[in-house]
Amino acid sequence: MLHGKKFILGITGSIAAYKAAYLTRLLKKQGAEVKIILTPYGKEFITPVTLATLSDNTVLTDFFKHDDGAWNSHVELGLWADAMIIAPATANTIAKMANGVCDNLLLTTYLSARCPVIVAPAMDLDMFQHPATQANLKTLESYGNHIIEPATGELASGLEGKGRMEEPEKIVTWLEGFLKKKQRFTGKKVLITAGPTFEKIDPVRFIGNYSSGKMGLALAEALVEEGADVSLILGPNLEVGNPRLHRVRRESGIGNRQAEIGRISLIHVVSGEEMYKEAHEIYPDMDVSIMAAAVADFKPLDPKESKIKGKEKGFSIDLVPNPDIAKELGKLKRADQLNIGFALETDEGLESALAKKHRKNFDLIVLNSLQDQGAGFGGDTNQITLIAKDNKPRKFELKSKKDVAKDILDEIVRIGNQDQKLFP
Ligand code: PMT
Repeated sequence: MLHGKKFILGITGSIAAYKAAYLTRLLKKQGAEVKIILTPYGKEFITPVTLATLSDNTVLTDFFKHDDGAWNSHVELGLWADAMIIAPATANTIAKMANGVCDNLLLTTYLSARCPVIVAPAMDLDMFQHPATQANLKTLESYGNHIIEPATGELASGLEGKGRMEEPEKIVTWLEGFLKKKQRFTGKKVLITAGPTFEKIDPVRFIGNYSSGKMGLALAEALVEEGADVSLILGPNLEVGNPRLHRVRRESGIGNRQAEIGRISLIHVVSGEEMYKEAHEIYPDMDVSIMAAAVADFKPLDPKESKIKGKEKGFSIDLVPNPDIAKELGKLKRADQLNIGFALETDEGLESALAKKHRKNFDLIVLNSLQDQGAGFGGDTNQITLIAKDNKPRKFELKSKKDVAKDILDEIVRIGNQDQKLFP
């Protein structure tokens, strides 16, 4: 299962560093390639010679090699690996990771890594339970990192409790499960529309809505974790609170620009017309298209180039329909493509969702209703009803948008394998 996989193993200054030697041996036995980065304190607990012998690779400890000054490129390492495992991860390293501190090679590599990052904490029970450590672990999870919870038992301090780094065998089993799951969308190209569209009235006003893009982004991240190549066409919302996306923005600026991060190709658009053009262009290449955007149904017929002056009597705006992206793509759909739509309803949800499913040729529609508390726009949660080919609604409980995204992916795989075998 792990044969041919490439891992960076980060080892920090904990007594559990000896377990990293076993972990290296188990990974190598399975045919994986392992490159080890040891922090300065890690070196106090286990020697580079031991680890170099077990991993068949030079152990990296510094930014430069001291003998010839050669540069150990953290960027290249971050791009090379299929996964980065930090085991054992001390409270200190976890805190630094959560806050973007990068004062050693392991931390700079972490910040550059585009692969999944897996953290196996090891520390004393009180350190682990401290609110600061718990908050830092939550922050890492919000970055999309995975935490392998420590086990309970005897600790180096002599105390008993939760804080022992998980056993190497269990970490390997976890990795196998993770990489197997990840393979479901490997090689699949997925288009996602997300966020609102802004339809220009004049240079200072627009017609828009409350979509934040969070649902679409959660889908994009879940898909990337499962190996997909995602094209995320995102409407003009600036505050989705996702650090990965902020990083893209810094690189690309705002506007009709495209940037790559991981396997998310991010395409910024403003209007429904722009979203339609971008989606239409790439659609033939896509295996799955998910329309999570709240596209304005109408746009001003005649947007003005200068600001409309305030008039006491008010004024009216003529509106014309925007392109219906989902419907147009539905007309082009081939038998080997899946189109997934959303329906945002305020009343008579099921009926409207079913009608939209047929009208827009969706294979699956995801209904979210503003009647359900915590569902729909803006927040971090959603409550959905899935309606697939059998037209039978299945309502889920209120969940984080991240978990909702996973339920949607499970359903996509299920329907994709119903009549044809589109997924492994
Ligand atoms: O972005 P968040 O704040 O996280 O909120 C998520 C969400 C509530 C926006 C999302 O879960 C959602 O429901 N998106 C669809 C919203 C919507 O516009 O629904 P609709 O019922 O009006 O449209 C039906 C479907 O047609 C949708 O897939 C929509 O993307 C698509 N559509 C609609 C109009 C149009 N001109 N083009 C389209 O592609």
